[in-house]
Amino acid sequence: MLLSRPGGSPRLLLLGACLLWAQSCLSQQVLSGQKICYGDSTHPCYMIAYFQDLSRRVGFQEARQGCEMEGGGLLSLESEGEQKLIESMLQNLTKSGPGISDGDFWIGLWRSGEGQTTSSACPDLYKWTDGSSSLYRNWYTDEPSCGSEACVVMYHQPSANPGLGGPYLYQWNDDRCNMKHNFICKYGPEDILEKELGDRADAHHDVQATVPTKKPHDTSKPEDRFPVVVTETGGLIPNLIYVVIPTIPLLLLILVAFGTCCFQMLHKREARRNCFNDSSPLSSECLAEHLDSNL
Ligand SMILES: *[C@@H]1O[C@H](CO)[C@@H](O)[C@H](O)[C@H]1NC(C)=O
Repeated sequence: MLLSRPGGSPRLLLLGACLLWAQSCLSQQVLSGQKICYGDSTHPCYMIAYFQDLSRRVGFQEARQGCEMEGGGLLSLESEGEQKLIESMLQNLTKSGPGISDGDFWIGLWRSGEGQTTSSACPDLYKWTDGSSSLYRNWYTDEPSCGSEACVVMYHQPSANPGLGGPYLYQWNDDRCNMKHNFICKYGPEDILEKELGDRADAHHDVQATVPTKKPHDTSKPEDRFPVVVTETGGLIPNLIYVVIPTIPLLLLILVAFGTCCFQMLHKREARRNCFNDSSPLSSECLAEHLDSNL
């Protein structure tokens, strides 16, 4: 039957609205880790951004902007103590909670000048993005390899077989800056302090190496905050959301179709009843009904 469907265009509108709504919900999933602080307020805080979903990992500059948007910077590692603290954070996240696995982390060490990559000077050209003058380094064997690699990650490949320099865990590697990785940010009151110290150090170049790092060597009492890892697609609930939201338009469509169908059946029945009640001048509708029922 070629009835014009009364619900046609509103249904399309409705469908469009549903799709738009679902899309805006999905795009609102912003990147938000949680800062974890150790010790008192003179110590920096850290944020580990780990993405289980490979497609959400980011390039170096994007990671840097991500940290700076929140008033911090990509992680600078200024002492072995600080390195060990981050290792411990990552270990704890690997073992428990949301459970992170393979995926390297950008840290705030890089070589900005592309031209000056010649020879043996290269390793000395790496600088901390937050202005720290710390000379602490924790390169993996044979790193940095320089060349086209100018941005540094902390290895985190717990399930990979160890290489020549041992497991690919926590030591540093330079990588191409547009590669996609997780990242770690550093925030805190020391940002200001560090700047002052840095400026002072710049004024007296001989003091540079002794820029103090009263860093969280003693991390005995971490505040009772839980590390929040950015894993939008990690848990069960986010996965459910991904499944449920796209099906909403479909469900609505089915509902509307069902409603239209019911309405038409009711309408038909009504028309038929009217025909029986008042059968004298057969309207075209009634005629159609009679023909229908006689067939
Ligand atoms: C890691 O976990 C251990 C044991 O729960 C805890 O003592 C330690 O402080 C944690 N390390 C960090 C950096 O949170």
